[in-house]
Amino acid sequence: MRDFHPDDDFATPEEYVPQTTPDDFDPGLPNQLLDFVLRSEPAVVDTDLFAVMKKRRSTRKFSDKPVETVKIDKIIAAADTAPTAGNYQGFEIFYVKNPEKKKLLVDACNKQPYVDSPVVLVFCKNPSRVKLDFPEYILKKFAIQDATLAAGYSQLAAQALGLSSIWIGMFDEQKVMDVIGTDLVPSSVLCIGYPKQTKFPKPRRNLKDLVHVVW
Ligand SMILES: Cc1cc2nc3c(=O)[nH]c(=O)nc-3n(C[C@H](O)[C@H](O)[C@H](O)COP(=O)(O)O)c2cc1C
Repeated sequence: MRDFHPDDDFATPEEYVPQTTPDDFDPGLPNQLLDFVLRSEPAVVDTDLFAVMKKRRSTRKFSDKPVETVKIDKIIAAADTAPTAGNYQGFEIFYVKNPEKKKLLVDACNKQPYVDSPVVLVFCKNPSRVKLDFPEYILKKFAIQDATLAAGYSQLAAQALGLSSIWIGMFDEQKVMDVIGTDLVPSSVLCIGYPKQTKFPKPRRNLKDLVHVVW
């Protein structure tokens, strides 16, 4: 793979268009498209939220089976349902489709090979969207929480749709920004696809050790 240079002649990110839109689509109607995508087929594979949580495991081996566009739409829509500070949605999603850029992201993510996965979503912080009258450091804190929570919602949605994912937190921020063409700082890279195998849950702390009851 050749080295990446920030001034490489890649296309800049463009507007996302879901597979299907309502016949009477009106961009001025709040949530019309979001509700449409959330309702759309396929029927969710697993509607039991707690079963979805229980089954989710990080996957680093994806099958070559492509992910249906309608599922990707729903995963993205799920992120858009997450709570955000003041509802200002202080985050952006970069949906990386270019195979060459996915390979460059492997390098940007500490050479983790599974980043070159069927679906790659980079969640970035956008504190400038958070129009609250608080100090800059608070707005930045809100933006990282917004971006993280949204990615978590997408991760659970992927699981509910019979897919699996790996959350990537180990990356070179600037390299990722150069690849996806933004000056927004990434908070996570979510790699999604059909898993090659299903796995048993990893051990966790006992709840009694995890929770500290404060009276
Ligand atoms: C903040 C964060 C950063 C992570 N970064 C990476 C990463 O860079 N590479 C990786 O392979 N897994 C990464 N993971 C996945 C964790 O290793 C995984 O969630 C953990 O081992 C628990 O396993 P499980 O997800 O299967 O329950 C990350 C997870 C989180 C929440």
